[in-house]
Order: sequence, then C-alpha cells, then structure tokens
Amino acid sequence: MLNSCSRALLPWLVLPWLALPAQAAQAAAADALASQPWWQNAVIYEIYPRSFQDSDGDGTGDLRGITQRLDYLQQLGVDAIWIAPMYPSPQVDFGYDISDYENVDPRYGSLADFDRLVLEAGKRHIRVILDMVLNHTSNQHPWFLASASSRSDPRHDWYIWSDGRRDGGAPPAPPNNWVSLFGGSAWQWSDAVGQFYYHQFYRQQPDLNWRNPAVEQAMFDSMRFWLDRGVAGFRLDAITCLFEDERLRDEPALGGVNAQGDPNLDHVYTNNLPQVHDTIRRLRAMVAGYPGDRVLIGETYLPDTAGLDQWYGGERHDELQLPMDMLVGFTNRLDATLFRRRLSELYTQVHGSQPLLVFDNHDNVRSWDRYGDGVHNAQIARLIAALLLTSKATALLYQGEELGQPTTTPTRIEDVKDPIGISGWPREKGRDGERTPMQWDTSNAQAGFSTNPKTWLPVPDNYRRINVRSELADPGSLLNWHRRLIALRRSEPALREGRVVMLDQGNPSVLSYARVAADGSAVLVVLNMSPDAQTIALDPGAAGIAAGQLRSLLASPDTLARIRSLKRIRLPAFAAWVAALRWKSS
Ligand code: GLC
Repeated sequence: MLNSCSRALLPWLVLPWLALPAQAAQAAAADALASQPWWQNAVIYEIYPRSFQDSDGDGTGDLRGITQRLDYLQQLGVDAIWIAPMYPSPQVDFGYDISDYENVDPRYGSLADFDRLVLEAGKRHIRVILDMVLNHTSNQHPWFLASASSRSDPRHDWYIWSDGRRDGGAPPAPPNNWVSLFGGSAWQWSDAVGQFYYHQFYRQQPDLNWRNPAVEQAMFDSMRFWLDRGVAGFRLDAITCLFEDERLRDEPALGGVNAQGDPNLDHVYTNNLPQVHDTIRRLRAMVAGYPGDRVLIGETYLPDTAGLDQWYGGERHDELQLPMDMLVGFTNRLDATLFRRRLSELYTQVHGSQPLLVFDNHDNVRSWDRYGDGVHNAQIARLIAALLLTSKATALLYQGEELGQPTTTPTRIEDVKDPIGISGWPREKGRDGERTPMQWDTSNAQAGFSTNPKTWLPVPDNYRRINVRSELADPGSLLNWHRRLIALRRSEPALREGRVVMLDQGNPSVLSYARVAADGSAVLVVLNMSPDAQTIALDPGAAGIAAGQLRSLLASPDTLARIRSLKRIRLPAFAAWVAALRWKSS
C-alpha cells in the first residue's frame, strides 16, 4: 500500500484507480446533501432590530431598515436571519417584554412591512427566524392584566402566584429565596390580588404558568400565526426557565454574591426542570406539521454537553433541532486544549445531532473583547471566525461581529439604557455596549444607520474605520475574511458534510483539525491560539487522511499561503490557516 507521502508525490498516477469510487462517493454525498434540511450547516445572522437600520429617521432601527439591507446580507452569504423581538412591547427589556404576540410594534413597522421583509428575503434565499419569548410576557399583556385583576379571573392561573409567607402579624414576605436574574427578589407583590407573582427577569416580565394547558395552547397558536406567515422557525428565548418547582422550595446558596449583589444560588428549582421536555416535544411535533423544515433554536446556557444533548431529545432527536452550544463560544479563553476538548465532546456526545456554535449575541460583551488581548484583536477575530465557520456546526453570527465592532460600554450611568446597567452600576454596566448601532458607512456621524443625530444608543467614533463600506473595499478586512469563509462553506464539500479529525492533539497552543469529505478530500484548519510563533508538523496520513495536493485557501497572515509542506509549518502569533488537500487540482 502506498503511504501518505508517496501519494502526495504521485497524485496523477493514483488518480485513475481512485476516480470511480471518488465520483460515486461524491454523488452519494451530493444526494445526502440534497436531502439535508436547510439549517444543517447554515449560517444564521442575528439582527437586533433597534440597532440594525433606521428607515424613518427616529433614531431606532426598524423592519423596513432590515429590508433595505438584505442585499448586504446576501453578499455576506447568510442563509437566514434571526430577528430579536419586534412585537408590540413597552420596551422595558427592549422587546423581550411582549404585550401582543401577533403583531409588530409600530416603532418597528407593521405586519405588511413584515410580510414584505419575508418576501424580499426569500428572493435572496434568506429565511426569517423569529425570537419567541415563551417564558414570560410583559406585565402590560392583556393576559397578565386579567390575571392580576382578581384571584377569580379565569386567567389568574396563567402566571405563577403565591400567597407568600405570613409570620404572625408581619407583612407578607416572598415565599422563598429565589432571585431574579436581573437583580433582587424574583417575587413581586400585587395589591389587587394580595399575592406575589414570580418573575425570572424584570418585574415587568411575569413568568407564565406552563403547567396550565391553556397557556401552551395560546402560545402554540401565536407561533402558528407566524408559521402561517412563512417564518422558517423560532429562537426560543430563556427556554430552560419555562418551569419552576411546584413546591417553591428554597434554592441552595453557593456562597458569595453576583454582580447584582444577590446571593449566588444553585438554580435547581428555577432552571432546566425535567418537565420542560414534554412541552418541547409537543412543540416540535406542532412545528413539524409545517412543510419546509422549520427549525427550533434554543437559548440554552447549560453546564455540560451531556445536558445539551437532552435538549435535542438525545437519541430520539425529537426536541430542538438546534439548541445553542454556549460551551465552545463562551470559554472566553484562547486555549487550544480547552477548545479541542469542548469541540470533541460536542461532536461525540449529542447522538449525531447538529451542533450550533455561537460566539456573539446581544447579551454578552463581544468576542472581539472577550478573546482579544488588546494588541492582536484583529488577528484573534480572524481566528475565531475561522473556528466558527470551519467547525462541523451550524454557525450563528451577530450583527457587527463580521466587522470587528468592539463593545462600547457606557462610561456614565446617565447614558445607560439597559435597566440592569442602571440598577447594577458600576459592577454591572448592562448590555448597551454590544447593542450599539450597526456601522454601515461614513456618510454621516450615525455611520449610515440613521439620519437622526440622536440615535437610541450612540455610534462610537470608530465607525470611520470600522464600517461595511470601507471593509467591503478592503480585500484584507475582517468582513471580507468572513465572506470568504462563508463562501468556502459552500464550495468545499468537506466543510459542509466532512467528518472532523483532530490533529496534533497534544499541542497546547495550536488547534488543528481536518474536515474530511466522503470522497477523501480534506480541508485542514490550523489555528495558533498563542501570542508566540509556533512551529508544528502535521501528519494527516497518520490520522487516516489520504494525502493529496496541498493548496492554501485562506491565510492570516497572507504569508502562510506559501506553505508547501506540512512537515514544518511556522505560524506567527494568532495565525489562522485553512488549506485543502485534494486529489486533483482545481
Ligand atoms: C434572553 C434574551 C435577553 C433578555 C432575556 C429575558 O436571555 O436574550 O436579551 O433580556 O432573555 O427575556
């Protein structure tokens, strides 16, 4: 048998006897791809509508603004957009407090604008995914107004109410020690009914009682409303919090306090309760009644991959198609060993389900700053993008991530818009920093986001350098790096359906792996996660990968494109290199 080295030297000689099986394998792979649901290996782009594009000059983004920018999204190459809540809302939590699940907030437009957005997106092969907040409503939602009007109202039981503790003649106290994720007790007293209601988030966001079947029916009806309008699926907000302990037991204290000054608790009675899975299976069955592979994505912050697997339904695969993995993207440490371990767990511990990777969203300091060292952020951002977009996973991008927009945290409490940043100041400065407007161009001081100088959050000065127009024109920009990576996902079968083989597994500084397609061709990914130059040798043959012609596909810095041999690869600090190993030149 030829070893890997001799094959590398003789690609033309070995090709003829490999050609037939390779073609057959390619055809089989193409068939398999054609039968895959669209979301398998898709790139999904999160839009925070307040901050994407303002079309009417009020300083806040809107649906027509998104429609105006669809050509950009098509150019970037995304398959779908997930739009954060754009339903009618008092906007206490900027849309995550919904007062009507079947309409559009007038600040964002109308149902007609929404329909047009879906239509125009479809023309560009972009699907629309909505955010669905099932855990809680606004306290201004008619359901809650009814629920809080009297104990005998038929809707009273739609939310979580408790008489609280009454010790002697003392005023009633909350029933237990549960704290809101946004600070303070999770219980709010209501004079009208003489009870406390439970809120995992702000007090203006009362939690629904999912043990009441009427709640499930009403929520499923609202989801049907949007499915009938053509949405491709939902991102399920705070989905792990749907159920709470019926006996309202105290949660164990872990010691210490969090950024809000509340005791750290082990959330065994308010998060990830087993009952939620029955609901999710019924939801999956409901959505499966629609054609076109509608998808359920979960906001699933979980402690380990085994826990994540339960959200897929384990080996039954009957719950969410894409619960978000937060273990890889939020390691917040450039540590090759840790990434290798977390990725390997994700590839092996979810019963073959499709991973969904995410590094950025509207709730967290941007990856630019979480992974950046303040000196090499631009190189590190390329490396993170390569990891996200070459892994065997569906990929989530958050607006501005592709540009390298940094987090712009407010420096004065009077500028803060996010209520947790006001109540938690200065320890918790809130989420405004990752929600500043999208930076389009230098046409005005609002970076083309709005014509109104008073945008809802300020546009940072760095827009002069960091913006879509300038980066599109610069072949070396982070934006073009993302575009090329996304294009490679389409053009390289190995990056779509190829299995993953970790290489050089003991290396603590460099993460390297191959994606190997059914026809044996492979794409190599090499990421130097250290601030020091590294020299490595890769031996794909030893890992069972057939050798072929080496061709650089993408390199940061550019000089890596000159690598001709895998026996000695010199990698500058934070280098990222993607290369093909092919049987024939193309
Ligand atoms: C999710 C959202 C976040 C929101 C919270 C409450 O975590 O991503 O923005 O504040 O749920 O709805």
